[in-house]
Amino acid sequence: MENNKDRFQSTTATAATLLDLMIKGQLISPAISLVTKLKITEYLKDGPKNVLQLSEKTNSNPSALYRLLRMLSSVGIFSEIEGKDNDDEKDRQFKLTTLAYDFSDEKNMVKNMAQLLDLQSFKNAINNLSYSIESGKNAFQHVNDLNLFDFLQQNKDDAKVFNNAMTAMTTSQLASLSSIYDFSQFNCLADIGGGQGSLLLDILNTNSKLNGILFDLPFVIESIQRILNAESENNGKEILSSRCRLVAGDFFKSFPFAADGIIIKNVVLNWDDISVMTIFKNCLQSIQTFKRENPEKQNLKPKLIIIDIIMPEKNDTSIGSALDILMLILTHSGRIRTKKEFSKILENSGFHISKIKRVSTDPLNFISIIEAIPSSI
Ligand SMILES: C[S@@+](CC[C@H](N)C(=O)[O-])C[C@H]1O[C@@H](n2cnc3c(N)ncnc32)[C@H](O)[C@@H]1O
Repeated sequence: MENNKDRFQSTTATAATLLDLMIKGQLISPAISLVTKLKITEYLKDGPKNVLQLSEKTNSNPSALYRLLRMLSSVGIFSEIEGKDNDDEKDRQFKLTTLAYDFSDEKNMVKNMAQLLDLQSFKNAINNLSYSIESGKNAFQHVNDLNLFDFLQQNKDDAKVFNNAMTAMTTSQLASLSSIYDFSQFNCLADIGGGQGSLLLDILNTNSKLNGILFDLPFVIESIQRILNAESENNGKEILSSRCRLVAGDFFKSFPFAADGIIIKNVVLNWDDISVMTIFKNCLQSIQTFKRENPEKQNLKPKLIIIDIIMPEKNDTSIGSALDILMLILTHSGRIRTKKEFSKILENSGFHISKIKRVSTDPLNFISIIEAIPSSI
């Protein structure tokens, strides 16, 4: 007779592994966000410190601080030094690991993402997962009364954390992006929903003949202008004044510019299929206008470059499936798509895929460049 247990497929996870994942899943983001606020990384930069020293500098309870650092050390952030004085928690010493050392960089991706996930507006949405699963709609709008981007427009502090997290994510990928794709083939490259412009400015920096257009919502474009005005020394400033236009607008309406190369990075995952098709069709129109307006440029090979995570066909350890649920909770029917799903939307918008390249060699990271060409040009 079939044993009760035999009816279920065996799995590699144990209950203890799951418990560990569950508890850490709740705690690691707020803990990273807190240690960066307390500037613990800065205090450890010139060498290990004991808990008493750190608690005095950060105005924290020594025992509680020890327990926080011990948990973070268990996932590779900080490292506890073994020693004979370890009986008293206050005497225990911690030093930096490479992961924690990098938190002192303003644009560190892990730190900025932890701060984003620690925002009350995000935590409230995530706590309402059941709403999303029940309705298929986004919990962010349900609990914050506005969709994500309208909310950010009205909440400048949250918008700053969001934009910094996106910039940090892009900055961590810049080196690989410009080494695996040749952007010099274009005359004018537009970055749609380009955020604070770190990707476009990097590409323009390494391709001196290229012109660029940074296109985003008005409140994002205004914030870039403010950042640039505040910085006296900034290479971006020179590029922006000579080779890049900042354009404010809405990518669901036709674009007020023409380009032969269009990048769209980490945007498609925020929207449902119909919305993505509207954006892609606007991209096609902009590409066609460029071609029409530049008849002397015979060898134009216009392209749409999508930079996004591709969901592997087989459910495995990629971060895609967790990010996909985050998109369900936070965005307007956004999702992480498979190659087939990208292909279908592109075909319905007048493009087809010509090339796909993985951006990262990390087996967990499926961020890829999808190059698409207009089907009828
Ligand atoms: C997830 S962020 C990605 C930012 C940037 N591309 C990156 O990879 O760091 C999505 C971007 O789309 C922009 N966006 C959202 N709705 C938009 C709209 N209707 N028109 C233009 N940009 C929009 C947001 O302001 C934001 O900068």
